[in-house]
Parts: sequence; C-alpha cells; structure tokens
Amino acid sequence: AASSLQEMFEPSSSSVYEENADINWDELGFSLRPTDYMYTMKCSKDENFSQGELNRYGNIELSPSSGVLNYGQGLFEGLKAYRRVDGSILLFRPEENAQRMKMGAERMCMPSPSINQFVNAVKETVLANKRWVPPPGKGSLYLRPLLIGTGPVLGLAPSPDYTFLIYASPVANYFKEGFAPLSLLIDNEFHRSTPGGTGHVKTISNYAPVLKPQSQAKNRGFSDVLYLDSVQKKYLEEVSSCNIFLVKGNTILSPATQGTILAGITRKSIIDLARDIGYQVEERQIPVEELIDADEVFCTGTAVVVAPVGSVEYQGKRFEYNTGAGTVSQKLYSTLTGIQTGLLEDKMGWTVEI
Ligand code: COI
Repeated sequence: AASSLQEMFEPSSSSVYEENADINWDELGFSLRPTDYMYTMKCSKDENFSQGELNRYGNIELSPSSGVLNYGQGLFEGLKAYRRVDGSILLFRPEENAQRMKMGAERMCMPSPSINQFVNAVKETVLANKRWVPPPGKGSLYLRPLLIGTGPVLGLAPSPDYTFLIYASPVANYFKEGFAPLSLLIDNEFHRSTPGGTGHVKTISNYAPVLKPQSQAKNRGFSDVLYLDSVQKKYLEEVSSCNIFLVKGNTILSPATQGTILAGITRKSIIDLARDIGYQVEERQIPVEELIDADEVFCTGTAVVVAPVGSVEYQGKRFEYNTGAGTVSQKLYSTLTGIQTGLLEDKMGWTVEI
C-alpha cells in the first residue's frame, strides 16, 4: 500500500499545473502561503448575514475594542480542497464545518452564516484561488473560515458587529515529522478543557492556552501533548490540534465527545470508515491504562489527516506502538485520502465537486 499521499499518484500528474511555477509544490508544509482572494461577510448583532464579497487577500481593519481582541469572541474552522487527477476540485464535507460553526456561534453568542451561505462562500473562495490548489499528491488548499466579533465593546458583552471571513493557503503535512510516527507526552500539569467550558467548540480561545505546554514538550523532543481530563486526570481527551484513537485487536477506540472534546470531522469520518471496513468502534471514556495496552495509537484532524503515534510518555515511562506498513492507521489513511482526492469511490457521498 502507498504510505503517503504522494506515492498514490503518478509523479507526472503535476505537469498539468505548471502555470503555478512560482511555487515549489514539493516544499509545502503547514505554514501560511497567502493566496489571491479572501471572502468577507459582515452583519450586526441583531441581523442575519446576507451578502458577502471576495476581496484581495490582505490585512483587515479592526477596532482596538473589538469583541474578538478584548474578550476572545471568535471561532475558526478548517477544511480542505483537493485536486483530482482530471484537474477538477473536491471539497470534503463542507456542510459539516458549517454545522459546527453554527453550533459554536450559538455557544459564543454570535450570529452565524447559514449552512448554504457557508458552503457557497467556501466554494467561491476556492474558485477565486484555484491556481493555489496543489496538484494531486502534493497537498491541498486549506480553507480557514473565521467568525469574529468585530464591533467595539468595553463592558463584557457580545460584540455589536460580526465578520465572517475565509482565507486560504496551500498546505501539505502538518507535523514536521511528515509521515514518521509522532511522539506524544501526557502532561498532567495542564489541561485543555473543563466540563461546562468550550472544549467541544472551535473557539479561538481554546488554542492559545495549549501553546505553552506544547512548546515545553517540543523543547523536550516530543511532537505534541496528549491531554487528560481535568477532573479525574485519568481519561484521555485529545492532542493540542487533533483527536486521538487507539487500536486494540479488532477494536478501535476514541474518547466520546461529551463537552470537553472537539467533535472532529476527520474523527467522525474515520469512525464511519472503520465501521464500514468491519472494525468494532467504541466511543467512550478511555482510562490512560488502556492507552498503555494498545497495539496502535493515531491522531486525526483536518490539518493532521491521520497521523500514526509511535510512542507516548506518561509519568516518566515511554510506551511504544506499531506503525508503518500493514497497520490499521495506514489503511484508514489510504482509504480516507483516497476518497478525499477522488482516487477511490465516494460511497459515503462526502465529497463536493466544485
Ligand atoms: C485543523 O485541523 O484544521 C485545525 O483546525 C487545527 C488547527 C490548530 C490547525
């Protein structure tokens, strides 16, 4: 089986896209590469979003007292557009991101675009930037929708005005490890999320607090941090930017998304694919002891896709897992990316051609 997306495609398939000679597709990682256009749509607190527009990508003007700058009233999303071998472009489950933003907006006291507005805005943004969709096997165009409180507030209250914005950047592997296995650290000093909080929604304020534990872990040579629950400090939650899965025999497990864990769209898709392939999937509370016993561990996320975990350190002990050819994570990775890139039949009806 191909072990990376690149190996799944013929090397010659990139020649069709040489119009983009100003970018070396082989050097893409997961860093911002600004593209031509961004999409913007505005509304006030008591209105619905109605009309958006495409503008050249660039800085935005923001009140110093905007809700997003002062009180973190903001959400983000992430989704990808893939180039098919015939040159056409596929989005992966964009309406799922739209739904998640709607749910998050309700939690954060913000108006949100309708599902149709969101999906159409994503399509328009991709089409306006289509020269930045990498050739098959070289990566994807990452879309970053934002919903932010832009109107001025001083007393703590919802912002009077909101902006929905989408920008795009071509990307490839998220972790510098590429397809090499990740090494995770379980750090019980810090927690990502608490019951009753916002761990289950994609608020911008969930991400800055993980920077410190993440950078401490990186300084010690780990790829990232795996968080435990903040109450009993014994159940697995998620990694800074992705969900976690275990494999034990024919069973695949992932922590249930009950309030403190982000309901990843890749997570949900992997669960459906695994069941379809014939694995037993359990979504429940997973004590850290079960991680120690697992055959395989892997992470999922839009940016990360499916990333194998080679080792986890917990309380000073290092536990190792199967990775590479023949693993469940590799099979799921090939199946998912096969569907996303149009190489495999999309039985689930997940892709949207634009
Ligand atoms: C994604 O996987 O798309 C995310 O939104 C996580 C982000 C921290 C890169």
